[in-house]
Amino acid sequence: MAERTIIRLRETGSTNRDLKQLALSGCLQGSIVTAECQREGRGRLGRSFISPVGGLYLSYLLRPTTPPGETASVTAWAAVAVADAIRDVIGLECRIKWVNDLQLAGKKVCGILTEMAGNAVIIGIGINVNNLSFPEEIADRATSLCLTCGKKVDSHLLTNALVDRLDLLRAQWPFAKEEYRRRYISLCETVGQQISFLYHGEERQGTAVGIGPDFELSVDIGGNMILVSSGEVTLHKEGNRNEEKR
Ligand code: BTN
Repeated sequence: MAERTIIRLRETGSTNRDLKQLALSGCLQGSIVTAECQREGRGRLGRSFISPVGGLYLSYLLRPTTPPGETASVTAWAAVAVADAIRDVIGLECRIKWVNDLQLAGKKVCGILTEMAGNAVIIGIGINVNNLSFPEEIADRATSLCLTCGKKVDSHLLTNALVDRLDLLRAQWPFAKEEYRRRYISLCETVGQQISFLYHGEERQGTAVGIGPDFELSVDIGGNMILVSSGEVTLHKEGNRNEEKR
């Protein structure tokens, strides 16, 4: 029987880019590319993702049979899978900043970028595992598992737990939507917060009040409810004079 492809690299440009190429040449779902560091790590909204040694960089291939429009929520399912893997290995409960940043003590510890390759979905995950410091531009809003739990984390163990959780996600897609949504809501720290966000190109402010059926953020703007399905929110933390962009 044909097997999934697993590629472990010391260094690469981007594991998402590598897996995209493999996906287009027909590798099986469940295929994985990992790297110890990336030169051109890709982040959401066209940003770069700083990827030094110490982090965990992994891309995972899904070939969903659901219509492409439905796969938008894979990214939120993946946030739950990563939070579960981290809890499995080190017992820390991450919080999710909508839509798919994982945080510990209010600082980003993991980012997720899903990209399409034809009908396939590449789930790209970057976790700050044993990083002890960060570049100045993100130092005030980033942390690592090691800095939070005060000891070195076994990256291999975490990678294995993550692959187990992603295999489970693959087996459960799309049937376990309500289970993932419930878990997502219980981990989401954005709900209940005052936020700003871009809506159809315009900056808007409101209160995040819930998570919609397809993991959209439900926002109350002066009594009018809207569902925001993509983009980035800025939290206005109570007692903090400055808005926090994370
Ligand atoms: C973000 O927070 O903006 C998303 C970051 C996603 C980074 C991961 S690291 C593994 C995979 N390969 C990439 O080039 N990007 C994703």
